[in-house]
Amino acid sequence: MSHSTLFALLIAVPAVMTVAAALVLARDGQGSMFKRVFMAFWYRYVRALNLLAPSIRVGGKRLVVFPDVYKPLENEHACIDYCREGDRVLDLGCGSGVSTVFCAGKASQVHAVDISGSAVRNTEENCRLHGLTNVAVAQSDMFSNVEGRFDLILANPPYIALDFKGEQEQFATSVRFLPVLFGEVREHLTPEGRLLVQFPLWFKGRLQRLAADHGLELVSVRRTPLKGPGLFLLSLLYMQVGFRSAFYLFRVRPEPAEAQGLPRAA
Ligand SMILES: C[S@@+](CC[C@H](N)C(=O)[O-])C[C@H]1O[C@@H](n2cnc3c(N)ncnc32)[C@H](O)[C@@H]1O
Repeated sequence: MSHSTLFALLIAVPAVMTVAAALVLARDGQGSMFKRVFMAFWYRYVRALNLLAPSIRVGGKRLVVFPDVYKPLENEHACIDYCREGDRVLDLGCGSGVSTVFCAGKASQVHAVDISGSAVRNTEENCRLHGLTNVAVAQSDMFSNVEGRFDLILANPPYIALDFKGEQEQFATSVRFLPVLFGEVREHLTPEGRLLVQFPLWFKGRLQRLAADHGLELVSVRRTPLKGPGLFLLSLLYMQVGFRSAFYLFRVRPEPAEAQGLPRAA
């Protein structure tokens, strides 16, 4: 088989599977058997790819990515635009540590947590490789091992609403992540604190409702930067295209003047 045929196959097979996957994931209900079988396969497929390609270069920085850890293919590092000098940052579900590595240069301190032990070790390794000294990494199921309040909380939740049990099968599937995030985030934000969620654009309504139910308001929505050709092809190989990933910025909804006992504006 010629090199060009092999290359075409390497692109065409994942492309066809990606389209099929998108159809399955978009059309089936939460408990669908198809979705479950596909995701069980996908976790193994990603593990094999990560073993073959154990690092990625994003935003000018090289990051190692462990086999059982989510590879940042959606320009996640662009969250740096939302980090202010001196912020105290929480990276909730840190994965490879991409957001932590990028924000640590601006933040006074970053606290990075993940439910997966592999992700915790992966973030520690990337912080070591980049010589970061203002980062604390810990294993935590959502906020269970998080103390204090933060100026900026970052989360790139799993996109697919399915329940897998294994600690290493949480990076793409979860039914708890979003409800717990919105339910508890206010207890961990400073009064002026911001929550930055990376999630597909088509879930805007759902995120806005969750936020409103928990006293938060949406400040802005922005698509993540367009992928370059290399990242696009890699995403195709990982069957991770078409999600239309976006940054949603939330803040605590200001109390109405009456609730604070202030005179109502004329
Ligand atoms: C889509 S990945 C994002 C990883 C990383 N933040 C990034 O942007 O590349 C979601 C991450 O959330 C973690 N996660 C899933 N459920 C969690 C939970 N209940 N508590 C903490 N982390 C969780 C996963 O292990 C995974 O690393």
